[in-house]
Amino acid sequence: MIKIEVPATTTNFGSGFDTFGLSLHLSNIFFVEFSEEFTVEVSGYKSGIPENENNLFIKVYKRVCEKIGEVPKPIKLLQENNIPPARGLGSSATAIVGAIEGTLALFNKRISLEDKIEIAFEFEPHPDNIIPALVGGFTVCATSETGVLFKKLDFPEELKLVFVIPDYKVPTSEARRVLPGAIKLKDTIFNVQRSALFVSALLTRDYELLREAVKDKIHQIYREELVPGLGKAIEESYKKGALATFLSGAGPTICSIVLENGEDIGERIKEIVENASGHSAQVKILKAMNTGVKVFS
Ligand code: HSE
Repeated sequence: MIKIEVPATTTNFGSGFDTFGLSLHLSNIFFVEFSEEFTVEVSGYKSGIPENENNLFIKVYKRVCEKIGEVPKPIKLLQENNIPPARGLGSSATAIVGAIEGTLALFNKRISLEDKIEIAFEFEPHPDNIIPALVGGFTVCATSETGVLFKKLDFPEELKLVFVIPDYKVPTSEARRVLPGAIKLKDTIFNVQRSALFVSALLTRDYELLREAVKDKIHQIYREELVPGLGKAIEESYKKGALATFLSGAGPTICSIVLENGEDIGERIKEIVENASGHSAQVKILKAMNTGVKVFS
């Protein structure tokens, strides 16, 4: 059997909407081999993940077969889901990236990174989860007419990420539907300034700038209606010493970047989110991962 491990990712970091992504020390694991018929077995977080040919991994497998000129022979897929789906932690990107690498390993074929990204985009047209899941680390991405341009940076070792993951889903499509069709010039400038500041602060390890650098006026503020308690959670996290707090991807997970006091910060955010939403939440403290997808054949 071929084993593929694909990391979770957190994206946006407030101001860097659809641009920043970071690979995390938490992975979904996929096992695949050729078989008599298509079979899918999901373990871990199973809810809403099809155990048939509608499974995203199988759909991407078929697309990659087409790309490399192979007949999509039936496969057996075992999917170990350690990342809660539809929470803003890149769970679907793991299935897409896992299927691309898994298919290439099954047929012993190679394609360029550009081609991998192009296929991935057919299924998820935002680079911020896909790129760090492929290459690891902190990535700054830009979509252009000729494809995705990106730069990978090492995320500072000493920073930890506290995730408060509520027990309800927010599909990315819904989180995009609440966004306005047009953004005011002053709000655009606000985000451009802060996203540039965020990268500069990371590169110079000037962590005091992070709190201002993750502020946003183009997506997160509109998504607060989908994530009750977000505003208060951000405010209170700073009282406990968080460096920066923002919505992870399209939400509803909330992420704090911290140097210390992670448990305390996580528990405070959890309390606020649980009270405001009526749903329970779990806290996970993770480190950034400098590597992306791994294949073991
Ligand atoms: N950046 C996307 C969003 C999620 O916030 O809608 C990741 O693809």
